[in-house]
Amino acid sequence: MTKNKNNQAIWSTRINKNGSLLFQKIGSSIDVDKKLYKEDIEGSIAHVEMLFRQKIINFKIKNKIVYGLEKIKKEIKNKKFEFNKKYEDIHMNIEKRLFQIIGEDAGYIHTARSRNDQVITDLKLWMRLATKEIDRNLENIIKTILKVAEKNVETVMPGFTHLKNAQPISFAHYLMAYVEMFNRDKLRFKNNLENLYENPLGAGAIAGTSFNIDRNFTTKKLGFKKPTCNSIDTVSDRDFVLDFLSSVSICSVHISRIAEELIIWNSDGFNLINLSDKIVTGSSIMPQKKNPDLLEFLRGKTGNIFGNLFTMLTILKGLPLSYFKDLQDDKEIVFKSNETLINSISILNEVLKNFSPNKKKMLELANSGFITATDLAEYLVKNNNMSFRKAYQVTAMVVNYAEKKKKKLHELNINELNKIEPKLTKEVLKVFDLKNSINSKKSFGGTSFDNIKKMITKYKRA
Ligand code: ARG
Repeated sequence: MTKNKNNQAIWSTRINKNGSLLFQKIGSSIDVDKKLYKEDIEGSIAHVEMLFRQKIINFKIKNKIVYGLEKIKKEIKNKKFEFNKKYEDIHMNIEKRLFQIIGEDAGYIHTARSRNDQVITDLKLWMRLATKEIDRNLENIIKTILKVAEKNVETVMPGFTHLKNAQPISFAHYLMAYVEMFNRDKLRFKNNLENLYENPLGAGAIAGTSFNIDRNFTTKKLGFKKPTCNSIDTVSDRDFVLDFLSSVSICSVHISRIAEELIIWNSDGFNLINLSDKIVTGSSIMPQKKNPDLLEFLRGKTGNIFGNLFTMLTILKGLPLSYFKDLQDDKEIVFKSNETLINSISILNEVLKNFSPNKKKMLELANSGFITATDLAEYLVKNNNMSFRKAYQVTAMVVNYAEKKKKKLHELNINELNKIEPKLTKEVLKVFDLKNSINSKKSFGGTSFDNIKKMITKYKRA
């Protein structure tokens, strides 16, 4: 019997010419998937333990393999392991090294499995941890936002629709909108875990296996909840990759929207926030500049993240079942998207800790653009027995009048208002007060200070 030759590809008995160096360079994924070494070894140990329990391999061989795998894990951890592109990927690199360490008994490790089920087992194990790390990062950013919100419950700013002054709001209410977004992200990632808890190991190359394996054993051992049901679907399925990439994309949309908003507010035109020197960069020619480069980085990186989702969708579109080499690229884009997201969340966290609202400017802007007009319309409905449409028209006349006289609504006196609506009394003037306006929005989810305080307390407890 020919022995496994250490410097030859596993399939060298069948394919008797070495692949071209170019193909090795292009086709090998070791530079990317070596990141999965721990998961690969964890999966392999669970697999051989199952093989032993099922009497498919004996105790001695099982122990030798586990010993070899543990040794390889240490070598990789201590950077003593030589990865070789010739052996394509992390699975073959480890198997090859196992032969060097324990000899021919290494040949039993790949009984009743294929790289097709092995690779997705590794990736799912990795993704479960990555998902939890993202969750922790989101938790951190929510805590930071809550701290800033707590200090700004009574900071008045204009709420914008179409970027035009709409209604007065509390700055904290605005910040709490970000908390909602990140909580939805957390939930989205959590929902993804459902699929990540299905164990692919045991699907083999496509058909399952004739060995009497116990998939429930590896399921338990690897922390999965149940084995996948169809071996063909199992090795073809990359929906969990799409779920991950799309959740990363949606989270990134949120980060990008916040970044864009802060860029606008930091512009000289708006001047609603100040960024500390820690988070701005200068210009090579304009000495006065303090640019929000970090925020622009966040907005820009969202493009890369979308690109990765589209890459995966395109790879899968039109791909027949089951495994094809096309799928190998999934890991590179998943790792890249994950890294970019983690960096982006950390950067946003830094930004949120290092900016301050320009309260004076916020108030000044909130006092322009006839921002309390809706409050007047609502007052007329409640106190002067008008339909909302009628009240809307009367208010529009008041706004036209104020605009003509170059006055703000709160600068109008009762005589001027009575020219338009004789039934109005002095009491109406309070509706033009910004804090009154905010505090009147007591409907659940509205901007009243009390509502916001309650929401902050609720999320601090959660
Ligand atoms: N490196 C491969 C990948 O990541 C592992 C699966 C290889 N399977 C195969 N039949 N070539 O997709």
